Amino acid sequence: MKIAVRYYTRSGNTKKLAEAIAEAVSVNAKDVSIVLEEKADILFLGCSYYAFDVDQAVKEFIIRNKDNIGKIVCFGTSAMMKSMKKPVTKVTKTINIAVADEDFHCRGQFGKIHKGRPNEEDLARAAEFAKSIVE
Ligand SMILES: Cc1cc2nc3c(=O)[nH]c(=O)nc-3n(C[C@H](O)[C@H](O)[C@H](O)COP(=O)(O)O)c2cc1C
Repeated sequence: MKIAVRYYTRSGNTKKLAEAIAEAVSVNAKDVSIVLEEKADILFLGCSYYAFDVDQAVKEFIIRNKDNIGKIVCFGTSAMMKSMKKPVTKVTKTINIAVADEDFHCRGQFGKIHKGRPNEEDLARAAEFAKSIVE
């Protein structure tokens, strides 16, 4: 089973989760500017909310790489909102890519709010989540 990890980040919060997830499943975490060169059966896709939506770069990554994506497993950080599945599914439903029911989400530091998040505990939970998906 081929696994890939891609993420979009502005302040590094989601990158931390991506690296914990990637280490747990023994691949490298790369940002969404890096195309999928081969088909990933499972793509762990990390992103965050900015003004109630994911960044355009995440949407473009999904469309550009659609032929190399088996199933997407979402993960992400945000200050108030929760799962990233809704904005991701809005893109995938137009091109018939499956999004896993399971996802991982935690708080991410936003200015003075949620300082230090994701923290060590969040990263450990993210790693456990990733392992539970691939085993
Ligand atoms: C410009 C901007 C807009 C944001 N809008 C939202 C939002 O609508 N909902 C939310 O829950 N968090 C929002 N946040 C908080 C981020 O989602 C949160 O800080 C996240 O952890 C950032 O992840 P990153 O460091 O990987 O970019 C916003 C942050 C910024 C900088």
